[in-house]
Amino acid sequence: MPTFRAPRGTRDLLPEDRAVFDRLMRLGADLTHRYGYRAIETPLFEQAAVFERGIGEVTDVVEKELFRIAPRTEEAESWALRPEPTAGIVRAYVQHGMQTWPQPVKLTTTGPMFRYDRPQAGRYRQFWQFDVEAIGDAGPAIDAEIIELGHRFYAEAGVEGVEVLVNSIGDPACRPAYIATLTEYYRGHAAKLPPTEMDRLERNVLRLLDSKDPDMAEINAAAPRITDHLCEACSAHFESVKAHLTALGVPFRVDSGLVRGLDYYTRTAFEFYVAGRAGQQQALGGGGRYDGLVALLGGKPTPGIGFGLGLDRVALVLAEQGHIVPTDTSPLAVVVSADPDDTISRLRIASLLRGARLAVRADLGRRKLGRQLEGAGKDGTHFAVILGDELADGHVQVRDLQAGTQRVVALDDLARELARAEASHHHG
Ligand code: HAM
Repeated sequence: MPTFRAPRGTRDLLPEDRAVFDRLMRLGADLTHRYGYRAIETPLFEQAAVFERGIGEVTDVVEKELFRIAPRTEEAESWALRPEPTAGIVRAYVQHGMQTWPQPVKLTTTGPMFRYDRPQAGRYRQFWQFDVEAIGDAGPAIDAEIIELGHRFYAEAGVEGVEVLVNSIGDPACRPAYIATLTEYYRGHAAKLPPTEMDRLERNVLRLLDSKDPDMAEINAAAPRITDHLCEACSAHFESVKAHLTALGVPFRVDSGLVRGLDYYTRTAFEFYVAGRAGQQQALGGGGRYDGLVALLGGKPTPGIGFGLGLDRVALVLAEQGHIVPTDTSPLAVVVSADPDDTISRLRIASLLRGARLAVRADLGRRKLGRQLEGAGKDGTHFAVILGDELADGHVQVRDLQAGTQRVVALDDLARELARAEASHHHG
């Protein structure tokens, strides 16, 4: 056992894992650019109140999972690591007066989030999200555009069988009546409710619907459905979102039990799953509309919508589906020399080639040339640049390790020749 290990619920992304994340992040950057989003970074921690007020006090994320930072002094403000980026981005929208920018303001970020959750496969205490937010457009067309963007992300990442589940969870006009109906329903089942759910019944009854407690499944299945209690405006909005999705060719399924785990949602809510996957209770991503959040965090009332996709889970599914292609990271050339002690020349030539933007390794071991060349072929490197007596008059040997051919090249031509060989290798 090593003395130190990564904290429980976290993991190291080793180079192979990091390469997959890199690919997903590049795809996210490329896609959001195509859809007109601009990248933003907000701090990894905020005043805890940003999350308490934004996400809601009576949610798992705030009540049980928030990583609070111990205050350094009595007066210190209370901070917490971000469990998700939406509240912080909306805080930034208000702080920087983005309501005066052309609306909607379309922002994207990708980075680590922190939740003190019970760790298991696909559920970590530090995990990565690819997030998009469009603030200042009441929809419904943009709702469909955002859902399509999420759907396309999985398709282009190579994930097979992604299902889109959508729902409407109403707004301040229709939700209060629904909440009263729902409260009445659960009160009728009070004897069967686990204590934590009983406690939430009077404080935030919607949370009972997405309870992870297995004892709740049966009671929840028979609960009154929000979609049967939508006001006319919410109902028309939802119909239009679905019509736009159909027109765009995005396959979706209405799931009237989908309420999401954060309090800021209004109207459109959606989640992405891989159909038939073991551990199916885990969403690959989710999001929705949050028309009250900007005002809740001190801005003037402004609608918004967005999603967060869990990159750890996407990587996991790609691996399960056999779609992880190892990335080729071998350098183009390795610099070796006949003189085992001459590491100076090797470094000098390698440096020259790196200055010409080529990927080059210098063999810095003090081994015989034969041993250096043996090592050179193993990592898939294409060329060996061999430094010998010719170096004195400005020449080196270049060996094509794959073809087994070798020729003399003037130092002045070396970078150009290797670059040309690399280009023809990639395109040929
Ligand atoms: P969320 O559903 O809480 O939404 O998280 C979004 C996604 O993050 C999940 O579907 C999942 O893939 C991933 N995720 C969440 N928790 C974990 C975890 N412990 N380990 C691994 N992956 C996890 C939000 O966070 C909202 N901010 C989404 C949003 C943006 N809504 C509007 N704009």
